[in-house]
Amino acid sequence: MKNFASSLGNKNKFLILGCGFSGSFFARTVRQFGCKVLTSSRSKKQDPNSFIFNSENDIIPDEKIFDGVTHILSCIPPDKNGRDPVLGSLKNKLQSLSLEWIGYLSTTGVYGNTKGDWVSEIDQPNPLQKRSHMRLNCEKEWITSGLPVQIFRLPGIYGPGRSTFEAIKNQKIRVIKKKDQVFSRIHVADITNAIIHVLQNSNSLKFHQIINIADDQPCSQIEVIRYCYGLLDLKMPKPISFEEAKEELSPIAKSFWMENRRVSNNLLCETLGYKLIYKNYKVGLKNCFVNCQK
Ligand SMILES: NC(=O)c1ccc[n+]([C@@H]2O[C@H](COP(=O)([O-])OP(=O)(O)OC[C@H]3O[C@@H](n4cnc5c(N)ncnc54)[C@H](OP(=O)(O)O)[C@@H]3O)[C@@H](O)[C@H]2O)c1
Repeated sequence: MKNFASSLGNKNKFLILGCGFSGSFFARTVRQFGCKVLTSSRSKKQDPNSFIFNSENDIIPDEKIFDGVTHILSCIPPDKNGRDPVLGSLKNKLQSLSLEWIGYLSTTGVYGNTKGDWVSEIDQPNPLQKRSHMRLNCEKEWITSGLPVQIFRLPGIYGPGRSTFEAIKNQKIRVIKKKDQVFSRIHVADITNAIIHVLQNSNSLKFHQIINIADDQPCSQIEVIRYCYGLLDLKMPKPISFEEAKEELSPIAKSFWMENRRVSNNLLCETLGYKLIYKNYKVGLKNCFVNCQK
């Protein structure tokens, strides 16, 4: 990380398109290295470094936002028609810039259901859900855009302010058991730090256009929920079977349970040498717990 300051430093200008949960963490961190960072959202923010970009209303950033931009991170999901909001509105503009790098946050949903088997970047995507087909199409559009893009496939994202603790607090928790079902996940700090690690490796874009960012320990949701109740010193509600629960789940919640896979981080952690900050849900949730006690 120290090298990042010297290798990237303050001559770089980042645009974070879609500064939600992951984008804000990335923006905060990169600013600490002295880089200039501008961030987009769909509505006006007080922050002077924020600008509006909303493909739904054709609100496009002003030309001067792009002056001197070297790096872009897009955290915006496909729109309701399955198009990529950034490429749909800004592709020509981006192609006219002298960009060093674009990061695109995608999802491991593109791998589909592997019935619990491990998946890695060399596996052929096999999307099950319509939204994952759309996502794969967006990935393909980025890859064929001719832009210097690197795609990061992410499993369930959690971190301070967005974790099982909030679900418990807001009484939105359902303790569901489904035999052999696992989920992969990633702490938001590891998304940022893994991307920074990859950015320091100037050859990685040439050789690794698609990279999974996941922790070391896919596991059942019930294991995670039990751990949180333990930290809170509260009694976990009685689990119900997926068969019983499924009638009450929203279509989107139900769809997550239809896919069962373990996402490999070998490329990131073995080949590219990234060291996870939160290698499993226990250390990651301890960090969230400490933060929610403050
Ligand atoms: N959450 C997960 O567990 C998960 C898992 C795997 C992959 N992903 C994907 O990873 C990426 C980052 O996830 P996240 O949870 O950090 O995202 P997030 O908090 O939901 O932020 C998404 C950002 O995109 C902006 N946005 C959405 N539609 C837009 C449009 N049509 N035009 C312009 N801006 C638009 C939002 O603007 P506002 O700030 O105005 O709302 C927001 O800043 C997303 O693509 C997400 O689908 C998420």
